[in-house]
Amino acid sequence: MTTTLTSIAFIGGGNMANAMIGGLLQLSPRPRITVADPDAAKRDILIAKGCHATSDNAAAIVGAQIVVLAIKPQVAGQVVPGLAPTWKPQQILVSILAGMPIPKLAGWLPAGAHIVRAMPNTPLAIGQGMVGLCAGSAATSADLALTESLFAPCGKVLRVSDESRMDAITAVSGSGPAYFFRFAEALVAGAMALGFTHDEAVLLVGQTGAGSWEYLQRSGFAAAKLREQVTSPGGTTAAALKTLDAADFVGLVTRALQAAEQRGKELAAG
Ligand SMILES: NC(=O)c1ccc[n+]([C@@H]2O[C@H](COP(=O)([O-])OP(=O)(O)OC[C@H]3O[C@@H](n4cnc5c(N)ncnc54)[C@H](OP(=O)(O)O)[C@@H]3O)[C@@H](O)[C@H]2O)c1
Repeated sequence: MTTTLTSIAFIGGGNMANAMIGGLLQLSPRPRITVADPDAAKRDILIAKGCHATSDNAAAIVGAQIVVLAIKPQVAGQVVPGLAPTWKPQQILVSILAGMPIPKLAGWLPAGAHIVRAMPNTPLAIGQGMVGLCAGSAATSADLALTESLFAPCGKVLRVSDESRMDAITAVSGSGPAYFFRFAEALVAGAMALGFTHDEAVLLVGQTGAGSWEYLQRSGFAAAKLREQVTSPGGTTAAALKTLDAADFVGLVTRALQAAEQRGKELAAG
């Protein structure tokens, strides 16, 4: 089973493709990376980084071991069928398109095409992404292993075997960064309501968030244990947490994730 990346083609050279390419360029040996994008300015930037670039999608995939589909879902119906005439049976299509079911992609490619669906998130841009993976019916365990090595330079991977679970992955980790950012926004607003300037609030909240997360990772304790350590009975933290729990904080977050999963199912159904 090979997990050596030799040649990768990206269809679409936008934000997510560039985030992935940033990690792949650190690999040694460095795989050959070809990017197809209609924008000449984007192609020039990619060429300067050491990639090959073209405006011709079909030409880009010739000889590629993995083809990463990194366009917007709305243009997939025009783009993917154009790859079919040059598609080779051993190639793997790795789609990062949100809400695009594998059977729909398979319908645009020759029968038996190997397809892996991936759901990354934006911290991929700094090598800290979380990526959910699901194999299509024709993809092999070797395809999945190779796809894992594609994402390894820019994050961690969780495989799911049932494609319907990709909506749950999207709800938790795909949309997840926005929940952390929303909570950070709320804490900054709350700190400003206590009289701090915006800059002071961002410092207090930012360092508390970064430090707490690092502490959680390094201490080896569960979040609940660390929370209990900060919470003296009848103290200040207990007063704040009581306010959150009175609004059913855990239930609220659970309902938010369920809403995201449900919306993912609706979007996939078209
Ligand atoms: N951003 C996220 O948080 C996130 C998370 C998970 C998954 N995704 C998925 O990742 C995919 C890419 O998102 P993104 O944020 O990277 O989008 P993006 O920055 O808009 O990148 C898409 C690129 O594809 C190019 N393109 C348009 N038509 C094309 C064609 N016919 N052939 C080749 N390339 C073409 C676009 O060029 P122009 O700009 O010139 O049109 C653009 O450079 C989306 O499907 C999204 O669902 C995104």
